Amino acid sequence: MSHPNPARAGKSEETDHSESRMIRIFDTTLRDGEQSPGASMNLAEKLEVAQVLADMGVDIIEAGFPIASPGDFEAVKQIAQTVRGSTICGLARCNDKDIDAAWEAVKYAPSSRIHVFLATSAIHRQFKLRMSPDEIVERAVAGVKRAVSYCDDVEFSPEDACRTEYDFLCRVVEAAIDAGARTVNIPDTVGYATPGEIYDRFRMLQDRVPNIDKAVVSTHCHDDLGMAVANSLAAVAAGAGQIECTINGIGERAGNAALEEVVMAIQTRSDFYACETRIDSKRLVPASRLVSKTTGIQVQRNKAIVGRNAFAHESGIHQDGMLKERSTYEIMSPEEVGFSKTDLVLGKHSGRAALADRAKNLGFTLTGEQLQIVFEQFKVLADKKKEIYDGDIIALVQQQISGSVDEEWTLVDYVVTSGKSRDPYVELTLRCGDTEATECIELGDGPIDAAFWAVEKITGIEVVCKDFRVRSATLGRDAIGEVNLEVEHKGRTYRGVGVSTDSVESTILAMLNAINRIISEKSPTQNDTHPNA
Ligand code: KIV
Ligand code: ZN
Repeated sequence: MSHPNPARAGKSEETDHSESRMIRIFDTTLRDGEQSPGASMNLAEKLEVAQVLADMGVDIIEAGFPIASPGDFEAVKQIAQTVRGSTICGLARCNDKDIDAAWEAVKYAPSSRIHVFLATSAIHRQFKLRMSPDEIVERAVAGVKRAVSYCDDVEFSPEDACRTEYDFLCRVVEAAIDAGARTVNIPDTVGYATPGEIYDRFRMLQDRVPNIDKAVVSTHCHDDLGMAVANSLAAVAAGAGQIECTINGIGERAGNAALEEVVMAIQTRSDFYACETRIDSKRLVPASRLVSKTTGIQVQRNKAIVGRNAFAHESGIHQDGMLKERSTYEIMSPEEVGFSKTDLVLGKHSGRAALADRAKNLGFTLTGEQLQIVFEQFKVLADKKKEIYDGDIIALVQQQISGSVDEEWTLVDYVVTSGKSRDPYVELTLRCGDTEATECIELGDGPIDAAFWAVEKITGIEVVCKDFRVRSATLGRDAIGEVNLEVEHKGRTYRGVGVSTDSVESTILAMLNAINRIISEKSPTQNDTHPNA
């Protein structure tokens, strides 16, 4: 397959992997990933993430499920119209309306794909679809044919394939390929399979489906038992040519296989897998951070590849070994996945160009207006802190990226007093367009609670706080504090992020971020129309 991104196209020539297979990376962060509760992204955020995925060398971006909502349709369409370098894919159930909508959304891309799915396991046939095996085959064939009438790149997924009887799975896969599917994806929809079973199932398909060589076989694993990455790699070892995965492993329930983990396993253990991908691994950490910020889903510290501790060596014995020879305890270098060599970057005398350059190295290209705002915030921060670290810059930039979208309410000023033996007091001023509103509140369990009350009073939006986390973006007691918030409003979950050296201010900013998401969500998102429903 020739890759549409010229920056990545030469990789196989540069590296001497004459025997190695090229594995396609199919990213579904914007579709399955967005199905994580509360992870919905707005249009601008989806466009930003899609461009980052294309720039890092993702072969296929599943941009959404166009029939799910007008917002989803618009996002897939705009991604197809603007993002270059990857095939843009839209998901559809096996019916005419879904497939037509998927095509209408993806048709603008120079390289587009329709992904059609239909459940095949006995459990789904009997209880969800109430369809006989013959009806399933008939519907699958009709769906693939309709998609092929629009687009020659069609993928078919027998949903819950890993719990489908071998004989029936072979029958469906063969029929879908005959109908024109160029990729057949074998999802472990409920994360039930083990690596050994996956290996056997993929080998079985290679051995028993007569036309299997006419299609790329793909793997799509969920992480309910923590085996999504191991299962995806077992599928590759058994001949799969495409991995479906998400940044940070976000996705339905326990999530999907993490892109950064499968990519680095293939890269680091090329001796074992004899495969490669087109992913520029140096972009993994910036992509992880961007997705974490836009979805509000934090990356655990010890997360493989992109976690803050992924390359930290604590024990004296390990540190001693590292100083003598890095390979004693390090199988990859932090730089290889996009951590920068030195974390200490700028100070109060650094200029705008240095800030723009550092942000670019961290994976963010800022517009002139964004740079101006981040630079002003940077100067204020540099006055408070002597040293500015990468983590500080990332926090400022990402707040700007997510904060610059559909922002309605902004913080003007606040005063807080609190003490052990008195009620907390908050005086808060917010702005929305030309209107400024001030509220004084003297109640609550503490200053943060009082700030919540004041924000709710001014904006008129009531929320229930489901999760509240504060963490420092860098080291030291003057570090930026990042608040991650999860709130519920009318039965739906929203996230908000705020950063400041003052934790009350971070809280107010996070609260406003969540409230602005509620306001900007004029149409229901994909979470309302679960594709597996
Ligand atoms: O997990 C699954 O089965 C899916 C399909 C829609 C491919 O996400
Ligand atoms: Zn899935």
